[in-house]
Amino acid sequence: MKTPVQGFSKLSKTEKIDWIATNCTKDPKNTKRLLEQYWNANPKVQKLHDEFIENTISNYYLPFAIAPNFLINGDYLAIPMAIEESSVVAAASKAAKFWLERGGFKTEILGTEKVGQVHFIYKGDKEKLSGFFNFVKPELLKSVASITQNMEKRGGGINNIELRDLSGKIEGYHQLHCTFETLDAMGANFVNSCLEQFAKTLKEQALSFDPFTDEEKNIEIVMSILSNYVPNCLVKAEVSCSVSDLGNADMPPEKFAEKFIQAVNIAKVEPYRAVTHNKGIMNGIDAVVLATGNDFRAVEAGVHAYAAKEGQYSSLTHAKIEDGIFKFWIEVPLALGTVGGLTSLHPLVKLALEILQNPTAKELMQIVAVAGLAQNFAAVRSLVTTGIQKGHMKMHLLNMLNQMGATETEKQQLVTYFKDQTVTNASVKEALEKIKSE
Ligand code: MEV
Repeated sequence: MKTPVQGFSKLSKTEKIDWIATNCTKDPKNTKRLLEQYWNANPKVQKLHDEFIENTISNYYLPFAIAPNFLINGDYLAIPMAIEESSVVAAASKAAKFWLERGGFKTEILGTEKVGQVHFIYKGDKEKLSGFFNFVKPELLKSVASITQNMEKRGGGINNIELRDLSGKIEGYHQLHCTFETLDAMGANFVNSCLEQFAKTLKEQALSFDPFTDEEKNIEIVMSILSNYVPNCLVKAEVSCSVSDLGNADMPPEKFAEKFIQAVNIAKVEPYRAVTHNKGIMNGIDAVVLATGNDFRAVEAGVHAYAAKEGQYSSLTHAKIEDGIFKFWIEVPLALGTVGGLTSLHPLVKLALEILQNPTAKELMQIVAVAGLAQNFAAVRSLVTTGIQKGHMKMHLLNMLNQMGATETEKQQLVTYFKDQTVTNASVKEALEKIKSE
């Protein structure tokens, strides 16, 4: 691309494709063919996807897979996952099966509070601001009545509005720190609409608050936005069994439990390890969050902030042995929705939710936490026993063979061959070349 393009969003889809193919790719004909190949055959479905975002030219596929056999609070669930990493679904399924035979996963909701803030600048007398806040709080609530009406009917709404003084950090900086219950909605639109109205009412009411001087009346709103840090929208998932039930072919169960707990404790005290440890957890969490049409960026941001809440980035999971019982659990903040957003629009999201038995947001929080815990269990189990590469490279074998241009017969032959061989890029290349030369 040598020059910027004017009015790209106004071009038709075909014109956009023409422009991108000719200006940004070496083989425009092939680019067009590829983009069209990934369109949905049903024009109605394609139009739906085109309209999710701006400037859509095709679809970007991710595998949509199932990790079956999760036993959660006594119920069986097959968990849909959307993810590109080859070993994730296999690892989740393996962990599900392992715990299926040991009582399954237990979960608990610890809170469902969402947060939003109006950030503003007020440099006047602080006592007057407190007085103003007490006066304006009922007005703030009244001003959003039309927005909160439906949510309140269903048992949700605004939990609290608090005035926070942060002028020690930035001159004049204050907040309305607001908390919400958004039930089955992730709640971003609800929260942001309430906040923007609070900001308007705050500003307007300050103008006619007599105790304020003219300068004090001029509260400056900086911004109004929900926070993706939701430490009180929290879920716990846990597995446990007696240490002797942790049967493992590679080492005695006591040794396995000890090494497993050591690995978790290392992730608790050592940020380099904690980041990778938690990344493994997010392999499970993001895959379900994505499959159910939720905002994985919001979840990621909130989860990592939570992992650093004590001032140092640390493990989201915990493990211990108590009276001969091995316990492994996760506590994780998850702001999720099962209504609104993409949930009723994206056909595969609808299907994912149906496969999960149309959960409430609270139920989905529990399922997602379980997926994270299962994933972490599988990863740490491999790490402290066989090492991660064995399973990972086995799962990656097909990707490698596809990349090397193996035929279906060659793939079949090599998958069988590598059942008891070490998979590396070099060993696969060599084996494929050998078959081809034969
Ligand atoms: C790979 O995607 C995730 C792991 O690195 C997680 C971990 O090390 O715990 C295997």
